[in-house]
Amino acid sequence: MQLTVNKKTHEIDVEPEMPLLWVLRDELGITGPKFGCGVGFCGACTVHVGGVAMRSCSVPVGSVKGLVTTIEGLGNPKALHAVQAAWVEHQVAQCGYCQSGQIMTAAAFLSSVRNPTDQQIDDAMSANLCRCGTYPRIRLALKTAAQ
Ligand code: FES
Repeated sequence: MQLTVNKKTHEIDVEPEMPLLWVLRDELGITGPKFGCGVGFCGACTVHVGGVAMRSCSVPVGSVKGLVTTIEGLGNPKALHAVQAAWVEHQVAQCGYCQSGQIMTAAAFLSSVRNPTDQQIDDAMSANLCRCGTYPRIRLALKTAAQ
């Protein structure tokens, strides 16, 4: 089957029920999306499918309709996405493991909500878990990125 990730189309030979995360990491070597819980709970594996944030550990690759974007395709070192730039500005990451999922969730959220309130940010981001507790800096970064 074909899978387009970060604007590049790949021919892949896998079972359709294989989770998208496995395909990204193990077949395509795209390691920005992380394995955390593997059951759709933590958000570390979040990518965009057709612009919508999805948990790639829980999406069978055969069901993917639309372009997949991972953290590697969100921006680039010379032109960071606004969310990535805000993450750098506020030094959000601590251990960093959950951060690509956080950023992908934040980018999808801000594409549909302008000038979010603190409550909207907390509601949108609360299902992405960070064991370091970087939530206050995540909120600050979203405020900055939304400007
Ligand atoms: Fe996918 Fe935790 S690894 S939600």
